[in-house]
Amino acid sequence: MCGIIGILGSHQVAPQLVEALKRLEYRGYDSAGVATIDGEGRLDRRRAVGKLVHLSDRLVTEPLSGRSGIGHTRWATHGAATEINAHPHRRGRVAVVHNGIIENFRELREELVAAGYAPESDTDTETVAMLTAKHMDEGKSPVEAARATLSRLQGAFALAFLFDGEGDLMVAARKGSPLVVGHGEGEMFVGSDAIALAPFTDRITYLEDGDHVVVTREGSDIFDADANPVSRDIAQIDVGATAIDKGGYRHFMAKEIAEQPAVLGDVLNHYVKDDRIVLPDGMDFSTVDRLTMVACGTAYLAGHVAKYWFEQLAGLPCDLDVASEFRYREPPLSEKSWGLFISQSGETADTLAALHYARGKVARTIGVVNVGTSAIARDTDTALPTLAGVEVCVASSKAFTCQLAVLAVLALKAAHDRGCIDDAGLAAHLADLRAIPALVNQALNSAEACAELAEWLSEADDVLFLGRGPLYPVALEGALKLKELSYIHAEGYASGELKHGPIALIDQNMPVVVVAPRDALFEKTVSNMQEVMARHGQVLLISDNDGLSEAGDGIRAGLAMPEGGGVFRPIVYAVPMQYLAYYTAVAKGTDVDQPRNLAKSVTVE
Ligand code: G6P
Repeated sequence: MCGIIGILGSHQVAPQLVEALKRLEYRGYDSAGVATIDGEGRLDRRRAVGKLVHLSDRLVTEPLSGRSGIGHTRWATHGAATEINAHPHRRGRVAVVHNGIIENFRELREELVAAGYAPESDTDTETVAMLTAKHMDEGKSPVEAARATLSRLQGAFALAFLFDGEGDLMVAARKGSPLVVGHGEGEMFVGSDAIALAPFTDRITYLEDGDHVVVTREGSDIFDADANPVSRDIAQIDVGATAIDKGGYRHFMAKEIAEQPAVLGDVLNHYVKDDRIVLPDGMDFSTVDRLTMVACGTAYLAGHVAKYWFEQLAGLPCDLDVASEFRYREPPLSEKSWGLFISQSGETADTLAALHYARGKVARTIGVVNVGTSAIARDTDTALPTLAGVEVCVASSKAFTCQLAVLAVLALKAAHDRGCIDDAGLAAHLADLRAIPALVNQALNSAEACAELAEWLSEADDVLFLGRGPLYPVALEGALKLKELSYIHAEGYASGELKHGPIALIDQNMPVVVVAPRDALFEKTVSNMQEVMARHGQVLLISDNDGLSEAGDGIRAGLAMPEGGGVFRPIVYAVPMQYLAYYTAVAKGTDVDQPRNLAKSVTVE
């Protein structure tokens, strides 16, 4: 998955392309490139391996002029992250940038090779450029050639085409991958999302699946999947063009962790007024027979915590699945059920496809999303914003805890609607929930202790995280964060499952992080911890003061979390999971905000 941008502008376009690519770097950062058309109509390009900064450095020594251009930031799917495989791909008079996967590229490439067009890269995208160049060689106009190519493509794509000699023309298309058109004054834009275009325009058209668009500086003509001219609305959007900075922190992640008390306060103020939960119309759970939650990565783990809340507080049967499995399993869905799709970006391809599968089969689709202009926010019946603000670090922190806060509100609403708790019960739970921002603030005090513990963890090859009940998904999140950021192998396990496998791994070298507040399940988890210590395992126990004094004998280290928060305390325990991963990555010197091979938004399946 990648980010694409195209500009027919009124200024030198290369700096604008780079600025937009900076805002798209969350989609991938293996390599980047731009192509422009200069004043004489000549198409030229620059590409560079690695982060965007390498491309902007190259543009200093080898500048590109022109007011028309396309750009790309890449997360490699086909072919290694080399300059040859970097976009834009150029053949003949055409240059192309692409987000997605052309599934029939092998077949197309064979056909092109047979016709005398030899590939230069290992990518699927290059076949798009080659095929379009072939159509142009056969006499087609640029627009006809692009159209002829589009009709042959299978898979998912957002594409932008630029043509040598055509400084006032761009063709773009989408199928499966998102693409927006931006409208300026005598300038036009296309991009993977509205945020990329925010420095230039707030007037956005969201293309529909199968659309293609012919763009000039004067405007755009949009055509649907059957090539019929269509009109699509222009929306005025507010995503803020301001530069996003680290605010004095060393990394975005440190800043985003520290922002959690404030953003959790914001999100709870949004959904809870006095002792009342405020949700959009129609959010009445009383007749819902089942909840199906679908998400990926950290968002999936937020759903995993919430499953305990929905089942225990609201007696609501709850299914949870990773989107990539859900979408192909063809699960039967009850028409009285609701589908709940959790996503920070709102653009994750599998989660979006899962939503499209569920639409029409369930009574209501709900999105719990951080990016309000995203596809999932637009395509669900009810979009509930998580209000975490822009999250830049690829590994999610504040978006996760804000997802948990929204899900906690939903679980309480469900419990109340379904008669599982009365007004007094609701008020008591809401008091616990309202205490969470302050408790998270106290949990931030664990930063220094986590930094010291990270010296130990950073020496390990493997780390095991154990938890029970709703702290089990928190343990999973601890392991996920650690592997994402520090590249240390880590596994999260339900403590009760320890004896069914992972106990074989325990020795004096493997840190075992036990997440166990002093709750009804504490004794059980502590028994599992004793089993670890009996085998010389080195335990870090994360609990409250009571828990640590009761069970702290023989542990290698303890970390005290504040008491309180009731059933919502998993939100508090997320903080040490974040800090342990963060400081271990810092100790190892890995790239905290942009870990290798990852991307913030996974827009291919
Ligand atoms: C990627 C990111 C994770 C994120 C997951 C789901 O893997 O690196 O941080 O949790 O995608 O993304 P979403 O935007 O749908 O929450």
